[in-house]
Amino acid sequence: MNSKVVLVTGAGGVGKTTVAAALAVQTAAAGRRTLVVTVDPAKRLADALGIKTRGGQPSPHPRDPNLWVATLDAATSWQAIARRYADPVVAERLVANEFFVAATTRFPASQSYAAAEEATNFIDARAWELVVVDTPPSAGGIEFFTAPAAMADLVGGRLLRWLTGGPLPGRRFLFDRTARPALRAADSILGSHLLERVAEFLMDLRTTYDGVARRARQIEAHLRRAQSIVITTADPAPVAEAVRFFRALPAVAAAPAAVVFNRSLPSSWINARPGRVSPALAENLARWAAEARRQAEVRAEFAARYRTRLIVVPWQLKPPTDLEALAALELNGLAG
Ligand SMILES: Nc1ncnc2c1ncn2[C@@H]1O[C@H](COP(=O)(O)OP(=O)(O)OP(=O)(O)O)[C@@H](O)[C@H]1O
Ligand SMILES: [Mg+2]
Repeated sequence: MNSKVVLVTGAGGVGKTTVAAALAVQTAAAGRRTLVVTVDPAKRLADALGIKTRGGQPSPHPRDPNLWVATLDAATSWQAIARRYADPVVAERLVANEFFVAATTRFPASQSYAAAEEATNFIDARAWELVVVDTPPSAGGIEFFTAPAAMADLVGGRLLRWLTGGPLPGRRFLFDRTARPALRAADSILGSHLLERVAEFLMDLRTTYDGVARRARQIEAHLRRAQSIVITTADPAPVAEAVRFFRALPAVAAAPAAVVFNRSLPSSWINARPGRVSPALAENLARWAAEARRQAEVRAEFAARYRTRLIVVPWQLKPPTDLEALAALELNGLAG
């Protein structure tokens, strides 16, 4: 079956993982085979989703066989990527190289690339009706869509060519005969294997270029076909991130299907008329009414400017971290 793909993006901490999980839980409960790919869920949410290890293969939820869960782990994904695109000896040398480990796990673009690559594998498996992809916190915005091209550029780009030379046959032989002894000599003065290890890493990484570049094009095609939803709250910083996303997305993908204003206060609070309450409580209610009005205005302005579907998800007193709460979270039309 062809999977419908929903990419859940947005600024850090706005509720991407929560909304992605709730969407998956509710779609699965409606009888559709669903996979949610989460990134770094908080402990209680991970427990509720039945996650035991990070970076594992998708597994069905113990309480709902329609709900499948996978967790991304950039380090594991990059080991798999190295083994897929480099020949076996080079791949093992790469995964053991400390610069490879640092470059692939610490940089936002490589985390995004790993997430996009894994998501593409799951989409290609055609085993789910819906695949919901939570995106890494550091790259909740447009970076997720631009990561494949950025990665191909990095691996095959000018900097690396300049550092390692063109892809001449025998380049490695030359390196072993000429550069390596020089780097070793420098390293022995520095008292480490630093330069030699860096050079080796760059040379090895470069051999993955053809595979990475080809894959990047496939990933981009998937991302262009996917639906994206942007999560935000009514606070200025996440809204600014959502705006940036709306402006930049048309260049790389389809327009977002919806924007979700999460943790929203009910509009009914704006004109609530409390009965007889103490002056302190009345003042407090007035303050909340003002905040509810401000949020409604932010939403209205966003909808007018970007003519997008707007979904309001209410602020829950108790953060939705168990299965029941995720099933009950009002997604107002997002699921189904
Ligand atoms: N509708 C809601 N009502 C109340 N609390 C919520 C709601 N949605 C999310 N939360 C809480 O907000 C916090 C952040 O949510 P979540 O981890 O889903 O955000 P995120 O966007 O995935 O964050 P990150 O960018 O760090 O990955 C969590 O404590 C979560 O339980
Ligand atoms: Mg998250």
